[in-house]
Amino acid sequence: MKILKITLGVFLVIMLVVQFVPRHPNKSSEIPPTDFTKVNEVPQPVKGKLFESCYDCHSNNTRYPWYNRVQPVAWFLDDHITAGKKELNFSEWANYSDRRKNSKLRSIISQVEDGEMPLDSYTFLHKEAVFSEKEKKEFLDYMRRLKKGLEL
Ligand code: HEC
Repeated sequence: MKILKITLGVFLVIMLVVQFVPRHPNKSSEIPPTDFTKVNEVPQPVKGKLFESCYDCHSNNTRYPWYNRVQPVAWFLDDHITAGKKELNFSEWANYSDRRKNSKLRSIISQVEDGEMPLDSYTFLHKEAVFSEKEKKEFLDYMRRLKKGLEL
């Protein structure tokens, strides 16, 4: 019984201490001029969906949920954001070469078409990020049009 109490005590102390590890939130106060939605004429519904379903992990600005204040949740979220941004960062879109844009668009289309993105672990808590059939069609039609315009 004593060992259990000690273990629990140590665990609580560790949990308390990790709350004070400095953080580097993925936050930016404005949408940069290189952003996907600034350099393309994105129809409103598609833009809304991008912000709602993709930007938390694929841009320089995450709308953090309240539970991000608690460690180790914040580390778990940051892991996803870092990995997501590495693959695709909508805030940096204008800096991508046409070749890269083309390949990213191909990937965006297939990920959304197959329902791989947004991630299930995200839509579990963000129901509004799920695509309706109509939204999905609008989104894919737009991305396909954009890709066609790029093909060299
Ligand atoms: C919860 C965070 C999260 C959200 C929300 C999210 N993604 Fe991702 N995305 C990731 C992570 C992490 C990766 C890299 C690892 C992987 O492929 O699972 C990734 C990878 C990708 C890739 C690259 C896949 C490849 O193999 O080339 C594309 C394209 C992509 N996401 C598009 C989107 C789009 C479009 C949306 C919105 C509809 C979206 N993602 C929403 C986290 C997210």
